[in-house]
Amino acid sequence: MYDTLSKAEIIKHMTKPIPVYYFDSIDSTNSFAKTLTEDFALVVANCQNLGRGRLGRSFHSPQGGIYFSLVASVSDLYQNVPFITTAASVAVIKAIKALYNVETSIKWVNDVYLEGKKIAGILCEVADASRVVIGIGINFYKTALPKEIEHTATYLFETEAPHNRNRFVSLITDNLLSILSNPEDKSFMEYYKAHSLVIGKAVICTRGNESFEAKAVDIDSDGALVVETPQGIQRLNSGEISIKLNC
Ligand code: BTN
Repeated sequence: MYDTLSKAEIIKHMTKPIPVYYFDSIDSTNSFAKTLTEDFALVVANCQNLGRGRLGRSFHSPQGGIYFSLVASVSDLYQNVPFITTAASVAVIKAIKALYNVETSIKWVNDVYLEGKKIAGILCEVADASRVVIGIGINFYKTALPKEIEHTATYLFETEAPHNRNRFVSLITDNLLSILSNPEDKSFMEYYKAHSLVIGKAVICTRGNESFEAKAVDIDSDGALVVETPQGIQRLNSGEISIKLNC
């Protein structure tokens, strides 16, 4: 039996409580979050029927996972979007380590991986000139995965033995709010880099219609992926990479 997600429990565990909206089922927590007017709010759902991923993809969101979106007011929002994107993955993997003692890693930009397979995705969207919506979807308990992702995705836990998802959501939110409260402090980037799945690996980079092979050598202080190509060093601020096997 899954543990029960509850608004009251999520609020109880937060160190700085913010308004929480809870839905047993919703189209997309990000879509709902974008309709809100608060500076800070959290939208949590037990499942989504139109979960959205990066690059216009859908995000499989059945019961047994965790789907939530944090609305946050951030100074110099447009300048800080790359920082927010990387911060979100650090907030997630730190909470997994702290609560469950499980080591996970980050595939640039912000996919969370466990033993070579994706367990969480993050979609950051600008809500208005000063607020961002940070949507986090985590495959928490084992559920059937659609064919197209069954070889690349997995779950945090192989069984339904209950773990406290309310505490988990609260801790990720606390971690994120704490990083966002001080955008000047980029020290979390060291944690990000230490948990990078890609640094040192041969990768295939895709930007729009362009695709090229490179070696990932670093992630800079703005969260850009630094890659080495035969033409020299390049910095990728957006796009996608896949890791080449056996390299
Ligand atoms: C990705 O892996 O491409 C990003 C997935 C982001 C999914 C989360 S689930 C909560 C929030 N609501 C959505 O519709 N998407 C994000």
